[in-house]
Amino acid sequence: MNNGHNVIQNVLFVCLGNICRSPMAEGILKNKIDNLGLNDRYVVDSAGIGNWHSGEQPDPRMRATALEKGIELNSLARQVTSKDFKKFDLLIAMDRSNYSELLIMANDEEERSRVTLMRKFDPIASDDLNVPDPYFGGDEGFEDVYFMLERSCKNLLEYLQNVENT
Ligand code: 4NP
Repeated sequence: MNNGHNVIQNVLFVCLGNICRSPMAEGILKNKIDNLGLNDRYVVDSAGIGNWHSGEQPDPRMRATALEKGIELNSLARQVTSKDFKKFDLLIAMDRSNYSELLIMANDEEERSRVTLMRKFDPIASDDLNVPDPYFGGDEGFEDVYFMLERSCKNLLEYLQNVENT
């Protein structure tokens, strides 16, 4: 979207509960944008397919993993809405299930074209392109998710910067 000066790109990360994967992705991307001093160029947010955790902080295990990497997660969970398809240029799903749900919610082909999968940006992604849900697993799952999202966000930001320059 064009604000008359710079192009502002709006990015929404989406997972199932909005307390583990998508808040971590949001935290990582915002941290990279901060470090480059590009805060006025991007709006980054996250949301969940479900509403079970609406209003909650991210899962304590995800927050602890993030803090170990120097990233503070301060989002509050919310559910995706149809308005998100109007506001966000890219809606990035954490796994294929989230991806399918977003495609069902989208109103038309143009909105569907804004939906993508996070691990399309991961240079060493598994074939299924899923960021596995760590919620019901052990602590190592959170660390694995962090590294996948870190790699993906690095590429994603390069992609966003290239789009801007074309
Ligand atoms: P997330 O993880 O989608 O990465 O936030 C989950 C958190 C909670 C639930 C599922 C996944 N849940 O079923 O409550």
